[in-house]
Amino acid sequence: MSDAADPRPKVLVARVLLPAGMERLAETCEVIEGGLSASPERLLELAPGAAAIVADPTVAVGDQLLDAAGSELRVVANFAVGHDNVDLEACRRRGIAVTNTPGVLTNATAELALALTLAAARRMSEAEASLRAGAWVGWDPREHLGLELSGASFGIVGMGRIGRRYAELVAPLAGETLYVSRARKPEAERELGVIQVDLAKLLGRADVVSLHVPASPETAGLIGADELRAMSPHAVLINTARGPLIDSAALAEALREGEIGAAGLDVYEGEPAVPAELLEAPRCVLLPHIGSATARARAAMARLAADNVLAVLGGSEPPNRVA
Ligand code: DGY
Repeated sequence: MSDAADPRPKVLVARVLLPAGMERLAETCEVIEGGLSASPERLLELAPGAAAIVADPTVAVGDQLLDAAGSELRVVANFAVGHDNVDLEACRRRGIAVTNTPGVLTNATAELALALTLAAARRMSEAEASLRAGAWVGWDPREHLGLELSGASFGIVGMGRIGRRYAELVAPLAGETLYVSRARKPEAERELGVIQVDLAKLLGRADVVSLHVPASPETAGLIGADELRAMSPHAVLINTARGPLIDSAALAEALREGEIGAAGLDVYEGEPAVPAELLEAPRCVLLPHIGSATARARAAMARLAADNVLAVLGGSEPPNRVA
């Protein structure tokens, strides 16, 4: 129940939200923050009476949390573009709107995919680690040989906003850019010269494969042992989308066995745990889910999450409804 003494709608920010969003919400709502370490049990305690929940990719929103919030809940605003942490059907059944934060993190995420592409192709993590460990004893023409990207074939799986921005960023390097997408993208083909192919063709031909599709039952395990074997031994695999797209045990083995050249990952199944086999795998750059982590993107995401909450609570259509 909301506080009887406080007539404002209660908004539960499951973990934390940046000031750009908090300040907007606090103008008209009672805002409660779970904090970064809020456990699922703690969220169940905080949820009763919430009219809105602001979640993020680490917060599972399903029947239990929705039931705990109760009948006043009208919107789940995800502080992310991906919304695989939210049970959309459970929200639909209860007439609860679900929103996300698309667009404002496109540049940040595509830029991080580019950074990972360069870092993985040029084996930057292991080169830096060796320097820091004092193992650099002099310039060695045989050490840390990587993949030159000028003229390379880029393969983009998923040509939504982020995939398309990545295509633009790699265009000055790319010899060709192939893409996989359910729908053809004539405008991107016209403007960027990208070529639609099927996944098998892309994997067989691309020097760099970058994943930009959402997590869903259809995309789970999209890249497994067979797909990794289909890639070139020098190919670089990049994932800034969601961990479950890749079978991490198969990827670690492909790296160990030299079936692919390198990988650059920002996301993992079961975050924040990172699969041990990946921590030990060679030629693998690992980042802690920082795709949207620019000050500009995160502030804009926070504002958008707040705008979505306020729109629903104010009785209007939210700018970014996904359900
Ligand atoms: C998203 O928005 O889905 C990102 O993964 C958050 O950084």
